[in-house]
Amino acid sequence: MAAGQLKLSERLRGVIKGTILTEEPLSLHTYFRIGGPAEAMVYPAGLEDLKALLKVARDEAIPLLILGGGSNVLVLDGGVRGLVINLSRTFLELEVSGEQIRCGASVRTSRLLAFSAMSSLTGLEGLSGVPGTVGGAIKGNAGTPLGAIVDHLDWIRLVDGLGEEQHLTREELGPVYRHCTIPAGSAIVEACFTLRRGRAAEIRGTISTLLARRNLTQPVEVRSAGCFFKNPPGDFAGRLVEQAGLKGLRRGGAQISEKHGNFIVNLGGATAADVLWLIERARALVMVKTGVELELEIQVVGSPTAS
Ligand code: EPU
Repeated sequence: MAAGQLKLSERLRGVIKGTILTEEPLSLHTYFRIGGPAEAMVYPAGLEDLKALLKVARDEAIPLLILGGGSNVLVLDGGVRGLVINLSRTFLELEVSGEQIRCGASVRTSRLLAFSAMSSLTGLEGLSGVPGTVGGAIKGNAGTPLGAIVDHLDWIRLVDGLGEEQHLTREELGPVYRHCTIPAGSAIVEACFTLRRGRAAEIRGTISTLLARRNLTQPVEVRSAGCFFKNPPGDFAGRLVEQAGLKGLRRGGAQISEKHGNFIVNLGGATAADVLWLIERARALVMVKTGVELELEIQVVGSPTAS
């Protein structure tokens, strides 16, 4: 068989040391528990594997998806062709030095927060309750009205499509509301934050208060992908969806949360098609009733049907 006809997973086997899975259901790897299979899903064994994978994907124009915590993504039912790099098992180190924390990109934001509190360093508390990993949070400049992840970021280290490492400062990422510019075909591997000295008990207290508030206002007990839409300037997507009378609307196993209008929840067995239907319905009705065009905050990937 010619190299071009080998299955992607077989071709990758000669290139890396990590684990390669074929036709792996991505519903097992997204917080939403929705999503079709990945043609090849790879857990790189470390930095060298990641470099090799990104280079192969670029050189051979293989479609690429980097999966971090899988919390801010809707994978469509037909799944994802090409290569999915699952970073959840690598880049997990955390290290404090003075007022700086260096953090692997796959560390959960909640773990980074707990570590900052333990180190008596304050600044990141606004991220309390934001799910996912540090790398994904930086790419989407995740945050709350109390602060976004790039506010205290110094630099990131990433691997680019040539398989080479790059350091980028906060300014070079051009951070704006819920977005940072990361070069196409690259993956963040490390981030460095500079924080301020604080009191551990106070930092823990702030985090607990914010988590308790979030538990009251958001459907944390059910599977979701976090907030679906960006807040439009000067308003809140959840408020607009509520005003359009859409809270509680159901399609198959998916529902616009009764608790918070900017969440779609998986009540069990929801498909991506159910979710897309609710998204379009919410966008259309909010546009008709308020004139506001809601923009997606989550990343939608893959094909609607198997190819
Ligand atoms: N509101 C309604 N109806 C609703 C939901 C909200 O009227 O169904 C109103 C609330 O009463 C409030 C305002 O809208 O006056 C804002 O609501 P909330 O405080 O819940 O904040 P949000 O803007 O909807 C943002 C982040 C969340 C984050 C919370 C923490 C965005 C898009 N969302 O939500 O982040 O957890 O603040 O306060 O910035 C996420 O990004 O995935 C996410 C969940």
